[in-house]
Amino acid sequence: MLTLSDLQNNAQLLEFIKASDETLKRMGYTEHGLTHANLVAQRAKEIAQALGLSSKEQEQCAISGFCHDLANFLSRSHHYYLGALLFYQLFKDAYEIEDLIPIMQAIATHEKEELEFASPIPAVLVIADKSDVRSSRVYTHSLQDLKGDIHDRVNFATKNSEIKIFKDKKIISLTLEIDTKITPIMEYFEIFTERMVYCRKAADYLGYQFGLKINNFILL
Ligand SMILES: [Fe+2]
Ligand SMILES: [Fe+2]
Repeated sequence: MLTLSDLQNNAQLLEFIKASDETLKRMGYTEHGLTHANLVAQRAKEIAQALGLSSKEQEQCAISGFCHDLANFLSRSHHYYLGALLFYQLFKDAYEIEDLIPIMQAIATHEKEELEFASPIPAVLVIADKSDVRSSRVYTHSLQDLKGDIHDRVNFATKNSEIKIFKDKKIISLTLEIDTKITPIMEYFEIFTERMVYCRKAADYLGYQFGLKINNFILL
């Protein structure tokens, strides 16, 4: 069976993630390297565990989280499709195709709702990835640059971001702590509304409601 620790030691995969991060950094994006990969992998696994998915599905969620941004060094606008294919190229000889397909689908759909979810793996990845908003993702800390980039500003202002699963109430909730001295909460919605709608669709597929709480205000 495919395991996250096998992948974390795969030299080619690590090079792809590193090249993707360097490419996006040059383009002014936030951190998309090993820190993001490991954090999304861990978060996806925790969500899968809390939902009671099988141990194989938990591992597939973790792997999707680790690999989802691996193709940003080839294209930003198509990194999800290219990522799925690149993942297949890397691991097609080592693993069963039926184990790879849900991961390929998760990578291919993590940014856009083009396909219907076909398994819990893509739905878990959407929630794990879209909830990684944090100040340490911002490469520039200069006040001037922060003023000019809304993504940097919102990430920089986010001091804490946490996913909680309430199994009895059937709620998956994202709790954020935003420093409103850096950005008004409205700016979060300006750039993340589409992501929140996608998270809600993912939660719905998993049989849950999606909740959003910012600075102790329940907004969803
Ligand atoms: Fe992505
Ligand atoms: Fe990502």
